[in-house]
Amino acid sequence: MAKLFTPYTIRGVEFKNRIVMAPMCMYSSHHLDGMVEDWHKIHYATRAVGQVGLIIVEATAVQPEGRISDRDLGIWSDDHVEGLSEIVRLMKQHGAKTGIQLAHAGRKATVDEDIYAPSAVRFNEQYKTPVEMSLTDIRETVEAFKDAAVRAKKAGFDVIEIHAAHGYLINQFLSPLANKRKDAYGGPSENRYRILREVIDSVRSVWNGPLFVRISAEDYQDGGMTTTHYIEMVNWMKTQGVDLIDVSSGAVVPAKIDAYPGYQVPFADQIRKESGIATGAVGLITTGLQAEEILKNERADVVLLARELLRNPYWAYTAAKELGVAIEPPKQYDRGWVF
Ligand SMILES: Cc1cc2nc3c(=O)[nH]c(=O)nc-3n(C[C@H](O)[C@H](O)[C@H](O)COP(=O)(O)O)c2cc1C
Repeated sequence: MAKLFTPYTIRGVEFKNRIVMAPMCMYSSHHLDGMVEDWHKIHYATRAVGQVGLIIVEATAVQPEGRISDRDLGIWSDDHVEGLSEIVRLMKQHGAKTGIQLAHAGRKATVDEDIYAPSAVRFNEQYKTPVEMSLTDIRETVEAFKDAAVRAKKAGFDVIEIHAAHGYLINQFLSPLANKRKDAYGGPSENRYRILREVIDSVRSVWNGPLFVRISAEDYQDGGMTTTHYIEMVNWMKTQGVDLIDVSSGAVVPAKIDAYPGYQVPFADQIRKESGIATGAVGLITTGLQAEEILKNERADVVLLARELLRNPYWAYTAAKELGVAIEPPKQYDRGWVF
């Protein structure tokens, strides 16, 4: 049996296979309200019909000022729970497990009001200069992640992922390239990690289910974070009860990335081997054989696909055929399997 189609269990939650849909912003909420729309219902349910084992819903803002765009999904208010429950219900109907990525964009927010970051340094000329967060701002943001976790639980999600990658708020604190603070949240790695430590502890205080953290394991710039630097932080995450590291890279500062098929897999592999924590590999994974190589060689525990699942929501069927595995379609589609 191809490993891609073997179940995977974390904290008693079983994914029917090791195919994970990576979080992808749809920018499809109505202007400013952060609500689930028909688009989200169709988009996510389709991937569940496509037999994806775990679907992680896009970066969902824990505070309105933390939106990447004014059309992001939101989870900053109790009003968001109903719509999110509806997409969870639709995905579960088709046997998928469901996750949500809790996010704050920090200095990469593109909202009209003030934006906030560890330091008042803008990402580049296209972005606003952020306000340096006060200790009260930090406390409120940590609290917002906790409140969002409570809402995610109410909505029925199986997995929570904390977005600490791609140069968004938490990543900005972790990397010395974006964090120039002189207080307890800047400087040495324990300090730069402090906000993530607090976010994980506050989420864990209300959430017993599987907890993922997405990191950017490489900053691609001198003086920035590398996978080796992240091992120390990942070991802290592990002691705090994080179950899986979703290993991406880049975007904390403008830098050139030489992307090729599977280019981030070595980072997931190194973290898995050196920290003994489960990892997810992501980035230009597009074929069943490629996914199988990663899993068989124990370079990661699950594979995450993003763009390939936009092109082909039924990728799991394609990969199963490629690997000679029979998977069950929904009964409505049985005749598609009779030749
Ligand atoms: C349309 C789109 C939206 C994305 N939104 C998010 C997001 O909300 N959160 C995140 O962590 N990554 C986001 N990403 C990055 C993907 O999750 C993934 O890491 C990246 O596309 C590389 O994987 P791929 O080569 O399989 O596409 C997005 C990517 C795309 C194409």
